[in-house]
Amino acid sequence: MKLSLSQARHLLESGGIVAVPTETVYGLAASIECPQAIEAIFSCKGRPAQNPLIIHVASPDQLVPYVLSFPEKLDLLLSIFWPGPLTVVLPIDVTAVPERVRSGRPTAAFRMPQHPLALQLLNQVGPLVMPSANLSGRPSATSADHVESDFGIDFPVLDGGPSVCGVESTILYADGDKWHVVRQGALAPEVFEPILGYVPGIVTVKKDEAPLCPGQLFRHYAPEGRLLLSNTPEQYSGVVIGFSENRYPLAEKVLCLGSVSNPEQVAANLYAVLRQIDQEGILEAAVDMNFSRSGLWQTIAERLHRAASSH
Ligand code: TXA
Ligand code: MG
Repeated sequence: MKLSLSQARHLLESGGIVAVPTETVYGLAASIECPQAIEAIFSCKGRPAQNPLIIHVASPDQLVPYVLSFPEKLDLLLSIFWPGPLTVVLPIDVTAVPERVRSGRPTAAFRMPQHPLALQLLNQVGPLVMPSANLSGRPSATSADHVESDFGIDFPVLDGGPSVCGVESTILYADGDKWHVVRQGALAPEVFEPILGYVPGIVTVKKDEAPLCPGQLFRHYAPEGRLLLSNTPEQYSGVVIGFSENRYPLAEKVLCLGSVSNPEQVAANLYAVLRQIDQEGILEAAVDMNFSRSGLWQTIAERLHRAASSH
């Protein structure tokens, strides 16, 4: 059910939840002040309690009541990448952030999104917690229709058009003075080099170690249909997920991600194509993995590996 901005605002202020457009993916929003709305987010998504939520703010000033200490270069990072697809994990005053939001951790994740409707809502209602607006484990939603397909046509959605980035924000965490990427996302690690003086390393989750980003532990981005990651998709005779320049002479059907020279376009189409697999009842599809691994392509490859490994 599509809402106007003022309807979305009233629903949030009265303790409801609303799907909200952002430039990365749609978020499922609750006011940080409303414990019952935060509860509703976890139950609606089927989200594990150990997976904390990102607090979305309208400006860097809104961090002040929550954050205990500001790591080196944070100001510079925020002045360049906010509003935008950067999330930062910061040490917090645990009395200021509900336990449920931070899953009992002494840190919280913060992001200032760029989508004008998200920013207007944040300015009117104050900080909102927003996980991606999809059922836990499934591909994220990059349109209002995707949200309705997961939560039903009566679910309240603020329609802001398709999400332009199409993959989630990049999450940075400072260990002392050194920044690390704890979730790959719409900003490639290389873009931080001019500010930090180094390319932040990507932290992978190790077995038996407490994860820096708990979400990395859970099943993610997966359609019901099985994905086969392939270096020889031209030999595959079923459904192929591929690129506009490439030829798949044996394929029964091709779902196109976009151009093999345009990672932004491919990221923007990624979840819509993964969702198409299930909409069309496709049981198995081969994915053409013959693409670069630099910049944003790394994030695209990571999402495809996760989507394929969940069966
Ligand atoms: O682009 C995005 O970030 C989207 C839009 C809606 O803003 N949101 C999003 O939220 O992707 P979600 O809930 O799907 O993913 C949030 C990730 C999870 O992997 C979670 O574990 C991590 O952020 N996270 C949240 N709080 C954290 C913390 N204190 N420390 C480490 N990771 C944290
Ligand atoms: Mg998510």
